Amino acid sequence: MLPRLLCTSLIVGALALAGGCSKSEAPSSAQGTAAKTASATADKSGADKKSAKAKTDKGVKPGKDYNSFANTEDYRVKHLDLDLNVDFSRKVLSGEAKLQFKRLNDKNRPLVLDTRGLKIESVQAGHGETMEPVKFSMGETDHDMGTPLKIKLPKNATQVAIRYETSPDASGVQWLEPQQTAGKKHPFLFTQAQAIHARSFVPLQDTPSVRITYNATIRTPKELRAVMSANNDPDAPKNGVYKFEMPQPIPSYLLALAVGDLDFKAMGERTGVYAEPSLLDAAAKEFADTESMLEVNEKVYGPYRWDRYDLLILPPSFPFGGMENPRLSFITPTVIAGDKSLVSLIAHELAHSWSGNLVTNATWRDLWLNEGFTTYLTNRIMQNVYGDERYKMEMALGYADLEADLADRPDKDEILAVDMRGRDPDEVFSNIPYEKGSLFLYELEQKVGREAFDQFLLDYFNHFAFQSITTEDFVNYLNETLVKQYPDKLDPKRIHQWIYEPGLPEGAPHPTSDAFTKIDPIRQQWLDGKIAAKDIDTSKWTFHEWKYFLDGMPEKLSEKQLKELDDTFGLTKSKNNEIAFSWLMIAVRNDYQPAFPRLEEFMVSIGRNKFVRPLYRALVENGKRDMAVRIFEKAKPGYHPLTVKVNSQIVYGDDGE
Ligand code: BES
Ligand code: ZN
Repeated sequence: MLPRLLCTSLIVGALALAGGCSKSEAPSSAQGTAAKTASATADKSGADKKSAKAKTDKGVKPGKDYNSFANTEDYRVKHLDLDLNVDFSRKVLSGEAKLQFKRLNDKNRPLVLDTRGLKIESVQAGHGETMEPVKFSMGETDHDMGTPLKIKLPKNATQVAIRYETSPDASGVQWLEPQQTAGKKHPFLFTQAQAIHARSFVPLQDTPSVRITYNATIRTPKELRAVMSANNDPDAPKNGVYKFEMPQPIPSYLLALAVGDLDFKAMGERTGVYAEPSLLDAAAKEFADTESMLEVNEKVYGPYRWDRYDLLILPPSFPFGGMENPRLSFITPTVIAGDKSLVSLIAHELAHSWSGNLVTNATWRDLWLNEGFTTYLTNRIMQNVYGDERYKMEMALGYADLEADLADRPDKDEILAVDMRGRDPDEVFSNIPYEKGSLFLYELEQKVGREAFDQFLLDYFNHFAFQSITTEDFVNYLNETLVKQYPDKLDPKRIHQWIYEPGLPEGAPHPTSDAFTKIDPIRQQWLDGKIAAKDIDTSKWTFHEWKYFLDGMPEKLSEKQLKELDDTFGLTKSKNNEIAFSWLMIAVRNDYQPAFPRLEEFMVSIGRNKFVRPLYRALVENGKRDMAVRIFEKAKPGYHPLTVKVNSQIVYGDDGE
């Protein structure tokens, strides 16, 4: 029997509404032609012509962004000029956002922008140099979506200039005290816009269907450096005024800013790392293969289109592993393990430069186009840089995550094109778009052969470059290209099943690894008492084998077994955060007290949701709510607003328990 696998999902939302989307409820997949899709303009969002036809029976309109107030059918913002002052004492960003937009009709309706917690001081509108103050109003606040800002426009206006400031508890900004940084001397600030948090620091059309270029001036205390998802200049003098340009059009969720005591170190010709000085060398060493990753991916999927690729190492409260902000991925320091064992995260964020940043999901329903494609590309990068064995292990661990989520999730969340109506994107994310999406692409690769599939993906990236596309745009394209080329090997019905139905189609690939297959009997022999822990030859195990060994343990172990594992392998003391996490999950499930001081220290010092969320859940599910509350209260002042949001639901009991 397969041992119980740990759920290591992201911010998984266990919203309990049951019932999935049956076949008849899903959009018909093959409407329109790739040629039509191809002729669409660079800012096609899917909210236009074709997708209106592809309605589901239940009324989901592909391409409609249910998580934004913006009236993108009337106006499309094209460019943003940002001028912001960073005030650490008040924890606010204040200044001006000037938006240039295109009018899509002559109805002159009010311009509706997304905001959350912004204080709007004044709005001007006009065109060119002619700007005049105009009337604006704030609409009703929605708990998940924030507050629409409605601006009355003079007839010919093509731009608005909004003076505003953010709230100190902006959902997309974390303000850190000096003691929360590595250097302990200077404060730090970073933004995290995906999915719908850009609106908490800039008023804009906060939907991935709209792409903008931007320029920014950021004013900071003199001793700090500002960096953005734009053209960073490591040689810019530290003088408190930083200017940026992002000439390629990006969706709002890729807008990003960080300010701190940051230094830069080059890793390759096009790659480098920004970090606090004390972390810089370790980070540059750990991620030294970034340049090779970039090169191998370019070889298969076409040129890297963003100029430089740098990493920014954040403080440990960063709520994600990584975030693919263009030209500058934001990275948790918890992956600096000392042995490159966790660098698939870098491959992942880098791969988004193709899948996500170049070809972007039009709405959050289409997230799997970003994350599933990226997970597939990540595995390929890992194979090209580190070889077959590593590739197989990474894939097998991904499959284990998928199995855990499939066991745990309501049917409707197992569908790749997930219904986002009335839902907060923060609550919906799971491993499904990542691992089911990737497995689907892996199956396509298996069916048509790697060469043909690589060619397909290369064409896909070129075809949709700098566009935001829907699931249906992808399906149409696939049907018009690969399916036509390989009618005997690909079945549109099965493709439909992968995307619009829960679970996995029968006979879906099941990636395995020889290294892991060897571990199953060893673990079993130990569990059966036939061998002692010290007799297991772990001398050649990599991180991946450790993780597989631990995650495959049964739900319950005896006190004696736990002690034997810990005494033999020093698990409580493990410096690898992924191993520590797997072990701490076991410790919580089994009330293994010797690990609890480490558990507390881990949960207070790290804010990455992939780790803390399952731990809080496990504490609550194992009758330790008091402990969960105590640790949460202690950790809360240092957590990111998102970590506070998703975990307070768990520890205070309004999470369906
Ligand atoms: N883009 C995501 C992070 C994200 C997804 C933020 C959805 C908000 C909403 C990023 O690329 C990501 O997937 N990060 C993972 C990396 C992992 C799968 C290698 C993470 O943070 O754990
Ligand atoms: Zn990702």
